[in-house]
Amino acid sequence: MTKKKLTTSAGAPVPNNQKSVTAGHRGPVLLQDYQLLEKLAHQNRERIPERVVHAKGWGAQGTFTVTNDITKYTRAKIFSEVGKQTSMLARFSTVAGELGAADTERDVRGFSLKFYTEEGNWDLVGNNTPVFFIRDGYKFPDFIRTQKRHPKTNLRSNEAMWDFWSQTPESLHQVTILMSDRGIPQTPMHMNGYGSHTFSFWNNDEERFWVKFHMKTQQGHKHYTNEETAAVIGQTREKFQEELYGAIERGDYPKWKMMIQVMPEADAEKTAYNPFDLTKVWPHADYPLIEVGEFELNKNPDNYFQYIENAAYSPSNVVPGIGFSPDKVLQARIFSYADAHRYRLGTHYEALPANAPISEVNHYHKDGAMRFFDNGNTNPDAYYEPNTKGGPVEDPSVAEPPMKIEGDVNRYEENDTFGEYKQPGDLFRLFNDEQKDRLFNNIAAAMQGVSMEIIEKQLVHFDKADPEYGNGVRKALNLTAQNLY
Ligand code: HEM
Repeated sequence: MTKKKLTTSAGAPVPNNQKSVTAGHRGPVLLQDYQLLEKLAHQNRERIPERVVHAKGWGAQGTFTVTNDITKYTRAKIFSEVGKQTSMLARFSTVAGELGAADTERDVRGFSLKFYTEEGNWDLVGNNTPVFFIRDGYKFPDFIRTQKRHPKTNLRSNEAMWDFWSQTPESLHQVTILMSDRGIPQTPMHMNGYGSHTFSFWNNDEERFWVKFHMKTQQGHKHYTNEETAAVIGQTREKFQEELYGAIERGDYPKWKMMIQVMPEADAEKTAYNPFDLTKVWPHADYPLIEVGEFELNKNPDNYFQYIENAAYSPSNVVPGIGFSPDKVLQARIFSYADAHRYRLGTHYEALPANAPISEVNHYHKDGAMRFFDNGNTNPDAYYEPNTKGGPVEDPSVAEPPMKIEGDVNRYEENDTFGEYKQPGDLFRLFNDEQKDRLFNNIAAAMQGVSMEIIEKQLVHFDKADPEYGNGVRKALNLTAQNLY
């Protein structure tokens, strides 16, 4: 095999990549050794800022296939025909850990999907849980602060986490899931994904539906207990990467079924719960799961950094037929992600291979970092709008139907009749005795070192969800205390 010639980044052949140019056999290195300078300078620039959340991740490329006709709900081209296939990129992640964190820590898992559709990229940037800790994006930076390191100790702080949760009762549903068996999946393949938010669909007749997305693992659920995960982390911190990468290399491609719950637009005014509240699920009895399709992850990217680290997922990436909802957290996310990408990756991050759509891109954004692409063969005189020079024009046929909103401008408290405790209590009552015991013990372990004042505040929330819940945690805390001292 003929080997390719090593070159500088400007393409000039390199005569030697091992020995610096020196003045004499034992003399100092010359500044003119540009190849050496370039090599060192590039190394200094190998890191970009890690994601402020969800820094540790694992991903792969794959294919989505439509298995059921949902065109009566949405005109999105990705769903236009049964059997239709669309390329995609998945990235899974933990929320709190940094880039080097151990994979099997107890944490919510990110579940990001990018679909390269013929009308642009559609990103579904969800989690492995159907709900979240907060229902208002205003609280997100504070919530995340409690998950990250303490400013003085530089350690994660149980005190901060429970201080926040005990004063944020809407978090109880998500906290119950996090502390349950589902809090430590064994691999990315053995967990479900959820779009979590309510999104909207609109069809060719301009009818709107509210929709929730569910991705059901076809590998079955597998989780670690606290004890098991301690042993795993003792052996490897990279379990998820090893398992996902290994399965795909072996040809053992993981699959998920995509399902949706659909709510007619007018129902949102009638439900006893706020269907746009991210801390609540929609009862499946009222809005049953409808099959949509299946996706399979079948390729490890040739370069992890290029495709997984450079991936820029954003809930703002929607396509005609798929839209937002009044969910307050979703609204905040619509701003936050593209802002993060411009900082983390650079102005024209969407032109990077991981993010570049397969559809033609024609916009009037002009210069800036990474402006390495051309004008898409349009007239170079057409660099503003409106113009008479043949530049790209808008397409009113893809406009979303108008959304009716009413009400006074204010900062509102959630006041639906479901309250904070019904759904966490219902979830708790679904667990069998062993699952409940593990829940109590996991919570007690996570409360180690937390002040009694905060624990007592949190116990009130468990009691309100179900007295057995509060009492179980109380008992486990005593046991933990005896074990400790
Ligand atoms: C990543 C903000 C809530 C799922 C991120 C990033 C930011 C962010 C800035 C890093 C983006 C990057 O550098 O590429 C927020 C804000 C939220 C919020 C402001 C609330 C207002 C949520 C919720 C979910 C979620 C509710 C899931 C339902 C994710 C996932 C990632 C992520 C999966 C990783 C994306 C990837 O794989 O690259 N978030 N987030 N976030 N967030 Fe959120």
